[in-house]
Order: sequence, then C-alpha cells, then structure tokens
Amino acid sequence: MMVKFKRWKLVGFLLFLLILFDTDFCCGRRTRQTESMLEDFDIGESAKFPYLQYGAEIQAKIKSSLPRFAQPIPNVTVTIGKDALLPCVVDNLRSYKVAWVRVDTQTILTIHQAVITRNPRITLSYSDHRSWFLQIKNTHESDRGWYMCQINTDPMRSLMGYLEVVGK
Ligand SMILES: *[C@@H]1O[C@H](CO)[C@@H](O)[C@H](O)[C@H]1NC(C)=O
Repeated sequence: MMVKFKRWKLVGFLLFLLILFDTDFCCGRRTRQTESMLEDFDIGESAKFPYLQYGAEIQAKIKSSLPRFAQPIPNVTVTIGKDALLPCVVDNLRSYKVAWVRVDTQTILTIHQAVITRNPRITLSYSDHRSWFLQIKNTHESDRGWYMCQINTDPMRSLMGYLEVVGK
C-alpha cells in the first residue's frame, strides 16, 4: 500500500514537472511572449531585434495598408448664393468609409455614399472610391465654419477644412 502510494506520488510529480516544463519553458509560453512583444514594439524599436523582423514587416504592412489622406482639405471661400465644393481625397480606403461632419453643430452630413443630413442643399459626389466631394449649393451665411472628413479607422483619422462665406 505504502509503495503504491509513493509510486503514484512520483508519477504525479513527474506529470507536474512535465506540465511546468511544457508551459513555462517550452514553445507555448515563448510564442505568447513573442506575440505580446510584437504588439508592444513599434517598427523602429523592433529593428534592434532581428528575430522580430518578420513580425515588424507584417506590422509595417498593416500600417501602410490603412487609409490615408492624399492631401489636406482646402479652406474654401465662396460668395453667398454660390455653390461650395469641399474635397476629401483618401488613398487606400478599401472597405473603410468616409464621413463628412459639420464640426460646429456636430452634425453628420454624409456617411460613405449616403447623405444623412436633411439639408436639401447638401449633396455628395464621389469618384474612384478615392475622392469624396461635399457639395453645398446656394450657400448661406450659416454654412460658414469647419467641416471634417473622417475615416472610420480605429483610432479614427480626420481632417478639417474651413468654409468661408462672404457677402456679394
Ligand atoms: C486652413 O486654415 C487654418 C487656420 O485658419 C490653417 O491652420 C490650415 O492650415 C488651413 N488649411 C489649408 C489647407 O491651408
């Protein structure tokens, strides 16, 4: 009885060692560590660690494949009653979406290809999934202000342009 018990204890201890060895020192843990290190390092940092190069390359690819603004949004000046056109040009938009927002009133004007605002003077034109033009017809003085173009990345990317409306 005594011998049997000791033998089981030994088997148990060996199993314990095996599990400890496996999870702590072998592949599983190291992989997890490497993964979390990859998340922490930015590309510049990982250049110092050659064994992280591959992960860094993937990270760089992901970063460079995110949408980005091709140009700033211009500040536009328009005479009251004339039409205004605000362009937002985005490279590499892929499945992300562009929205136009009126900053002062926090109003969403357009999302992707849909016009959200009920203001009938506001329309959207787009081409090549790259250029998104907010059109404001027959401008009023109340249209003066900041307009923001947003891309729904995480974190969100955005640019603003000012619409100046001047008297005749
Ligand atoms: C628009 O005007 C603001 C300040 O009024 C300025 O900071 C910004 O650079 C201007 N944008 C462009 C594209 O010139």
